Amino acid sequence: MAIDYADVIVDLQYGDTGKGKVAHHLAASDEYDMVLRYNGGANAGHTVYHNGKKIVMHQVPVGVLHGKVSIIGPGCVVDIPALVKEIKELNAAGIATEGLIFVDKRAHVVTGDHLYEDKHDTKIGTTKRGIGPAYRDKYNRTGITIGQMEDRNNPYDWPDCPFEIIDIYKLLHQSTFKYRVLCEGAQGFHLDIDWGEYPYVTSSHCTVGSACLNGIPPHKIRRVYGVLKAYETYVGNRANYTDESNPIFQEIQRVGQEFGATTSRPRKVNWMNLDKVIQAMQINGVSHMIINKADILQEVGKFGVIHHEKEYQFTNYVAFNAFVTSILYEHVNRLATITWSLSPNGI
Ligand code: IMP
Repeated sequence: MAIDYADVIVDLQYGDTGKGKVAHHLAASDEYDMVLRYNGGANAGHTVYHNGKKIVMHQVPVGVLHGKVSIIGPGCVVDIPALVKEIKELNAAGIATEGLIFVDKRAHVVTGDHLYEDKHDTKIGTTKRGIGPAYRDKYNRTGITIGQMEDRNNPYDWPDCPFEIIDIYKLLHQSTFKYRVLCEGAQGFHLDIDWGEYPYVTSSHCTVGSACLNGIPPHKIRRVYGVLKAYETYVGNRANYTDESNPIFQEIQRVGQEFGATTSRPRKVNWMNLDKVIQAMQINGVSHMIINKADILQEVGKFGVIHHEKEYQFTNYVAFNAFVTSILYEHVNRLATITWSLSPNGI
């Protein structure tokens, strides 16, 4: 076995919770040799601050910024031209990627037809990155994998290809090196194809099980990092998600700059829903929790949370923090730590 251990990052809400920042922070430590992206595709927008520069990553695992082996796993769908562009932009920003970015041969290709079809979505409010059509064709057994694409030597410029196609099985299970893996998830629990609010979901698995689907055996999972925000946001066409006319939510949206990293769409704001967070934590077996953007609520000066379908408001951060912390420890046995983040750069 060539895996020492794997830690998995999952999102406990609807995406956009700061997983990129958490992955960037963890990947900087000497606890990991490899970062594995395990679901989704270019629908993700992981924003990180690296050496003082803001960088938005869509398909490339954040680990590459720290010179770590970065793998796009078999559970992902890949838009090859967009991936090549993203890597070239990283290089232009001074990030060395040579010999670091790998795509598993089983990952499926997002084609021009997928992109065209998704551009016309009006039902779900997708990111229009061809994700649904690509996964549909995968499950319909009419898709094309990266490996098949390479065999056919098809339209892409393989000699200049800035990534390498590999068999992740060989790397994770047949090499002599013992990898310590950080698994970087995309989207969020309540967008998950099985657990989200269907049909207003993405087309991939966004739970800890999704990391296992990429070749990580369950018994190798050491920690599960659950990431969320101190409030909730959602982007998509689901009706009656929140009261968009609420001036507090409008203020949180403004101060928190809640606009999509991939599509620039405004994110709808609501209070953190503890019942939904607890469900996501239980199903993912979260051991370590990071609550981002608590500083935004501090700046706005309003604190609220939904629990058992009732809204609670607090006059100050300390009372809000104490309420949320006590409920979470009460409901989730495995939970070891809760970290409240008050800064866009740090944890
Ligand atoms: P798709 O993943 O582009 O098919 O979009 C399906 C739903 O998931 C839509 O409501 C999108 O707004 C949402 N979604 C997909 N990726 C993300 C993400 O990275 N952050 C937030 N929402 C996302």
